[in-house]
Parts: sequence; structure tokens; C-alpha cells
Amino acid sequence: MVASLILLAPMDGLTHVAFRRLVASYGPPDLFYTEMISVRAVVFQPPERDPYLWHTETDRPLIVQLAGREPELFEEAIRRLEERFDFAGYDLNFGCGRGRARRQGWGAALLSEPDLARRIARAARRATRKPLSAKFRSAPGHDLKKLLSFAEGLLAEGVETLILHPRAPEEGFRRPPRWEEIRELKRATGARIIGNGDVFSPEDAKRMLSATGCDGVMIGRAALLRPWIFRDVKAFLKGDPLPEPPAPVEPVLLFAENLKLLPEEWREKRFSLWLFWYLQNFPFGLYYFGRIQKGTSIEAKLNLLRDLLGREEVPPYPVSIRQNR
Ligand SMILES: Cc1cc2nc3c(=O)[nH]c(=O)nc-3n(C[C@H](O)[C@H](O)[C@H](O)COP(=O)(O)O)c2cc1C
Repeated sequence: MVASLILLAPMDGLTHVAFRRLVASYGPPDLFYTEMISVRAVVFQPPERDPYLWHTETDRPLIVQLAGREPELFEEAIRRLEERFDFAGYDLNFGCGRGRARRQGWGAALLSEPDLARRIARAARRATRKPLSAKFRSAPGHDLKKLLSFAEGLLAEGVETLILHPRAPEEGFRRPPRWEEIRELKRATGARIIGNGDVFSPEDAKRMLSATGCDGVMIGRAALLRPWIFRDVKAFLKGDPLPEPPAPVEPVLLFAENLKLLPEEWREKRFSLWLFWYLQNFPFGLYYFGRIQKGTSIEAKLNLLRDLLGREEVPPYPVSIRQNR
């Protein structure tokens, strides 16, 4: 039997090099994904100097997720990346449902422009022989026929892996994901399918694999709360006992150290962005988060966190998300 793939989801503002290195230090996923990166930024700025593309030897293999709507910019962006770096592959973002993406016609907006999405896939395929995946959501209104024909279009252009988060763009995180659409996508296409959405524990990962027949599982928010979840999922799938979780403050200290890999002016904001999620492990996490906002530097915040988390324990799985942003 081929082992199932366990992947770290792309998350804007969060899956930068500092976070990926934290994840790697506990036990890496089979693939890391960058947060979404605009094809325009790659084409019109020097990629070497773009912190969104920075990476280390530990956060590998690394897939770059690209967002945009002009096929020629996808092609040019991938060519530029191919010339300069050795990424493991590229992912096309057809899933971002934010207002900006809606207004500018990229991300999930492209679910309603399947011909343009196909042209993007074709252009990307022209630019590289490396693995190419596409990540998308359910079609608006959960129109399954539309979803399957969108997927078939991408496969016909040479995308090999499809990643589905089965919530419609208009739903945000309000409704549970419809895992049955992952099963349908696998059944109808026979392609390599990665399921995504509400995997909050190693048991959930196993359940998604067996309920949908998908080839792998991508984990987003649960990895923000438990950066060590990949080693746990792998242990669980092998039938091994789950390792003990780290002391609550340990990942915070490691992450603070890793922030040095990012430009100085990014560090405080990225620290806060992650703590908003990580602290949700603890019953009073959102209160703690409010308190540490008063710290005037990363060092001051760390001192407060040492104190607050010194009295905590990581609760058992599943993670519970108290608030989405
Ligand atoms: C804060 C945040 C940022 C995200 N940014 C991206 C992104 O840049 N690209 C993308 O394809 N999906 C993005 N997503 C969606 C996730 O990759 C994933 O599909 C979603 O969170 C569902 O998986 P989960 O239930 O495991 O969190 C983001 C999600 C969150 C919560």
C-alpha cells in the first residue's frame, strides 16, 4: 500500500519560513506549502529578495502556491522561480474566497471562470515539468457537476494533484466541510486527490482517508495550534502510540527564535498572527492573547507567555478552534 500524504496547508501570513521551520523541528509533513504569493509580485520584483519565498534546508520539500488571474503572469512567474530556486513544485490557488480575491477575480472567483482557470493551468504546465497541484473549494452553491467539470479541465491541462476544501466560497468556516465531495472527486476523476477541511486530530485524518478514499490529507488550522500534529498523524496511521505533546511554552520559544529568519519589520506582526491561533489551545487563550498585546516587544511578550503558559497543559486532541479570523 502507498503511504498517504500528509501536507501542511498554505496559510496567508502564517506558513512563512519561520513557522515551517517550527513544524519541521517536531516532524515534517510530506510537503510544505508557502502561503499564497501573487504572480505579479514574482514577476515584477526580484524573487531573491522576496521574504515570502525565503526557505531553509529544513522546510522541504516546499511547494510554492501562486495566486493571480493572468495566465501569462503564471507562466513568467514559474519560469523566474525555476531559474533561481529548486522548489519541489507549484500550486495554483483557486480557493481564496476573500473580498479582495472576489473583487479582483482571482482565487475562488476562478471557479466561475473554468476556461480561464484551464488557461492558467496550461501556462503553468508550459513553464515547468515539476509537480503541479491546484487547490480549490466547492463550487458556489455546492454545484457538484460544476466542481467535477472544473477539476477535469485542470487535469486535462496537466495538473496532477487536486486539493479540495469542500466549503463553498460564500460559507467561510460557518458550515462543516462536505467530505462527501472529496469522495466524489476521487471517484469521478481517479486522479490524485488531497482532502482538506476540519482535520483536528490524528483520528480525523484517518477518518477522512477512509471515508473519502483520498490519497492524502492537508492540515491547516490544527497545525497552527499543534505544529507537532504531523508526527502525531504519522504515528497514529502506523498504529504507534502518540508521542507526548511539548511543554506549552516550548513552541513559542522556538518560534520566536525562528522569527529571525524573517525581515525585522515583519517579526512582531507574524508573532501575533500565530499566537492568536496557538493560544486557542488553552481555555483562556483568547484572554491571554488580549493580555500579550500589551507587551511592547517580542521579548516582553515572551516574558508574559512564560508566566501564563507555565501553568498550562496541552489538552488532548481534537483541537478546538474558538475563533477564526
Ligand atoms: C488564516 C488562514 C489563511 C489562509 N490562507 C490561505 C492561502 O494563502 N492559500 C490557500 O489556498 N488557502 C488558505 N487558507 C485555507 C487553508 O489552506 C485551508 O484550506 C482551510 O483552513 C481549511 O483547512 P483546515 O480546516 O485544516 O484549517 C487559509 C486559512 C486560514 C485559516
